[in-house]
Amino acid sequence: MAPEFERANGRAPANRRDIRAGMVRNLYFQHYAAANRIAQELLWESTNVTIERQLPELNAKAAELSAKSKAILDIPEGFEAPRYVTALDIHCMPGGYATEVAPGDISVGALYDRGVYLYAMGYTGPFNDDMGRSVCNYIKRRLNGFKPRRILDMGCTVGHSTLPYKELFPDAEVWGIDVAAPQVRYAHARAAGLGLEVNFAQMNAEETRFPDGHFDLVVSHILLHETSAKAMPRIFQECHRLLAPGGYMIHADLPPFDLMDPFTQFILDNETWYNNEPFWGAMRDMDQYDLAERAGFDRADVRFDTAPMAVMEFAAQAVAGYSEDAASAVAEREFTAGEFAPGGGWEVLIAHKQDTTAAKDAA
Ligand SMILES: C[S@@+](CC[C@H](N)C(=O)[O-])C[C@H]1O[C@@H](n2cnc3c(N)ncnc32)[C@H](O)[C@@H]1O
Repeated sequence: MAPEFERANGRAPANRRDIRAGMVRNLYFQHYAAANRIAQELLWESTNVTIERQLPELNAKAAELSAKSKAILDIPEGFEAPRYVTALDIHCMPGGYATEVAPGDISVGALYDRGVYLYAMGYTGPFNDDMGRSVCNYIKRRLNGFKPRRILDMGCTVGHSTLPYKELFPDAEVWGIDVAAPQVRYAHARAAGLGLEVNFAQMNAEETRFPDGHFDLVVSHILLHETSAKAMPRIFQECHRLLAPGGYMIHADLPPFDLMDPFTQFILDNETWYNNEPFWGAMRDMDQYDLAERAGFDRADVRFDTAPMAVMEFAAQAVAGYSEDAASAVAEREFTAGEFAPGGGWEVLIAHKQDTTAAKDAA
């Protein structure tokens, strides 16, 4: 495809759009894209069969666990989830995140919990919590001595990434919020079942119900690419409002396209075209430094970094017990296009809210 493109345009393909322009006409690519789409639909369909069969037991168990929990579950009357969540079944998950077929329904929470393990091909670990664990490891190593008293996880879904924060900071008040009621209901029961006291609420990250400066740490994990160009600036502003002086905002997502070769960009962008992820590609073109600066962060306090995948580090340690060669093969393995997290790590955008009161007091 590259030689053909060069012949027609007098230059090498520069980005995902160039590659796509040639590939969409290619019969092999058409088969590949169709097979991917069908596999994705079958994944959810096969998971759904088991959820539907067990739904009465699942509902009863969730209600029992939630009732025993001391943690808060806040689902307000009349809440409306934004259209970018409800208008389509994101990544082909039947019903999307927010569908409720009965009062107190948790079915799409259960569907996400099981289905996403298959979707990620196990790369997010047995509890689907690799993103949270990887960012927690990063905080331990890189934000030396940082000890947040209150932590907010935005777009928490069923709390996979939220719970590692409670494990790392057991004395902190930890909250997960999501616009989808069935997800936070399931999250609350799941956390209780795993013995962790974490609060969950149905809230919009663009406009939460928490007071100014309530949190020392606000995080999200693969939330931003499922929002919109209008929502993202509002979410950054809300993070800035919610942070206490000295606090951190950390958003973990897949890497921006400018860090990848055009072919990898193209493969990942298939999510936009064939997997009901309309904002997947566009989000990666947005200037997140600019968004953070407009939200009130100092540009010098904003950076991108990579949080190595905790599962890969764990695998390397486990293999180290057998042979050094095998351990370094796992640790140094390069992820390629089409794998779950290219580069073997989660891209994190980190912004620090300056403690201007401390500076003023010192002056
Ligand atoms: C890909 S999932 C996030 C996965 C989760 N953070 C994890 O690590 O397992 C995206 C979630 O964000 C939620 N969401 C989308 N827009 C939101 C918003 N404006 N406020 C809060 N949640 C939102 C969706 O309902 C969905 O549950």
